[in-house]
Amino acid sequence: MAARVTVPLLRARKGRDKIVMVTAYDATFARMLEEGGADVLLVGDSVGMVVQGHDTTLPVTLDEMIYHCRAVCRGARIAHIVGDMPFMSYQTSPQLAIESAGRLVKEGGVGSVKLEGGAEMAETIRTIVRAGIPVMAHVGLTPQSVHAMGGFKVQGKGADAERVLEDARAVEAAGAYAVVLEGIPGELAERITDELTIPTIGIGAGPSCDGQVLVCYDLLGLTPDLRPKFVKRYDDLFARGVAATQSFVSEVRDGSFPAREHTFAARAPAATASEPSNDAPVYGSVALPR
Ligand code: KIV
Repeated sequence: MAARVTVPLLRARKGRDKIVMVTAYDATFARMLEEGGADVLLVGDSVGMVVQGHDTTLPVTLDEMIYHCRAVCRGARIAHIVGDMPFMSYQTSPQLAIESAGRLVKEGGVGSVKLEGGAEMAETIRTIVRAGIPVMAHVGLTPQSVHAMGGFKVQGKGADAERVLEDARAVEAAGAYAVVLEGIPGELAERITDELTIPTIGIGAGPSCDGQVLVCYDLLGLTPDLRPKFVKRYDDLFARGVAATQSFVSEVRDGSFPAREHTFAARAPAATASEPSNDAPVYGSVALPR
């Protein structure tokens, strides 16, 4: 089995191999995305929008993040797992931030944490890093500041570019090992990527970043009502899920499911490949096969 992707390995990929990060919220998706080759699984607070159905990420709690981190850690063996620090789990003080980051590592099992913010978060990043917890920063469009930004709006346009550049410089100086650049012009992302010595991971930030991240529900086509410009859908699993459910509904209604092969018999016939013995465990092995 391949070795776990680590923070030093990710840093070493700066300017070389692109880093691929995808969000994950549960064990099954974690396993699927890892088998697909993702280097990093981000247990994002986007869980609040795509799983919990909120309009923003703001309602997500630290306990909920820990729950999802544990599930993702159970499903992945190789990928580096990043736990997102939810709104108000770090903004009020570096002391609160280190306690929250510690819980994500200790209880959630993640290898590093991510938090949003630039220069104003430098002290907080320094404090967490000093405790031995690697920090991925996140600048540009920071969804936890949705109200301050007046919506999920592209940042760093025109004169505002300098502010985002300063934020990126500040998080690197504070010890972040990588930085997510979200929702900024491609030219600015290129400038930041060229200047910083840590990897940049883009989302809605053009092709020049050292890596890319997408929300797994977006890339798989599970968010039918959302079509942001920066997302490419690699499948349409929502439509395929609807079609599969329709087949199940019609087979239950017309009586063709369950068929004989889905039914336990009182006296078992000899087991075949398609019909395992009645004595086999109903759900197979408890652990995920490796
Ligand atoms: O929560 C999340 O999914 C994120 C990514 C969009 C980077 O922070």
